[in-house]
Amino acid sequence: MNPIKISPQFNREADCVLFEGDCLDLIRQIPDNFVKLIVTSPPYNIGKTYENKLDFNDYLSQQRQVIEGCVRVLEESGSICWQVGNFVNNGEIIPLDVVLYPIFASLGLHLRNRIVWQFGHGLHASKRFSGRYEVILWFTKTDEYTFNLDDIRVPQKYPQKKHFKGPKKGELSGNPLGKNPSDIWNIPNVKANHVEKTVHPCQFPVELIERLVLAMTNEGDWIFDPYNGVGTTAIAALIHKRKAMGAEIVPEYVFIAKDRIHKAERGELRIRPMERHVYDPRTPYQNIPPKVVRLSDDVPGQGQLLEPKEDYKVKGLSE
Ligand SMILES: C[S@@+](CC[C@H](N)C(=O)[O-])C[C@H]1O[C@@H](n2cnc3c(N)ncnc32)[C@H](O)[C@@H]1O
Repeated sequence: MNPIKISPQFNREADCVLFEGDCLDLIRQIPDNFVKLIVTSPPYNIGKTYENKLDFNDYLSQQRQVIEGCVRVLEESGSICWQVGNFVNNGEIIPLDVVLYPIFASLGLHLRNRIVWQFGHGLHASKRFSGRYEVILWFTKTDEYTFNLDDIRVPQKYPQKKHFKGPKKGELSGNPLGKNPSDIWNIPNVKANHVEKTVHPCQFPVELIERLVLAMTNEGDWIFDPYNGVGTTAIAALIHKRKAMGAEIVPEYVFIAKDRIHKAERGELRIRPMERHVYDPRTPYQNIPPKVVRLSDDVPGQGQLLEPKEDYKVKGLSE
């Protein structure tokens, strides 16, 4: 395969567009109905280093402008995934999905799932419960949309379970390809010890975006992240042979995004694999043999081995 072609401006011949600047300026360059999936995590207006905290209504108007542009560039069979948490002011929270939903609905989009992304790390609150989930609002532009369920199935809890009566008695009752991953996703967020950690304070884990990419697009489709950060969406797109486009205002993040893509191209980028179990302190360490209790022929033994802990290398993009 040829080297990945990265363009600093919109260019339909490129594999990847990494635009340094305001997302609205990139959106203006993109033709109507061009991208298959838009996945992003916008600023939450909570005063992170990369954002100017705005009056909340001004923030919502700014989001509306970007969302309107996104709807224009979205293909008819395409999807938008807007990943958000809470706006916090003096200890009071406003769930951003709740206030942003009316904007999407007013533009005629259809909400397919409100995915709860559950994770283990974050600030320890002292006057309310510590926040350990955020959400992904998944909208489609029309009723004819891509959803490749078989590409994102996860292992059944009891893969050997069989029908115990009726005409299918004795046959496996679950789908041999695995089950639907549901709308609650337990995926570690990228904090200090995560293998993908960069200097960015709130980057996506690659595996979170991989699932969206595999489910909602096909090879060769364009995937756009208007708030591209250190390029996680682009990496998830490129490793699955899609095309990636993103805008980012902080030059250092654009540089890191490019560097991560080149590392992935050389087979040197380390990511956490989608298949790895989430660490659970109650599960025995992998070097202690699990205790297996067989309850019946249909229920597999209890006790699970943890996945090996060594780092994972992405296959080179050209492989
Ligand atoms: C929540 S972070 C996204 C991080 C990203 N998902 C990743 O994995 O690296 C939001 C990003 O949007 C960028 N940003 C803020 N306003 C922007 C704008 N108007 N246009 C483009 N990027 C912007 C910020 O610098 C920040 O990196």
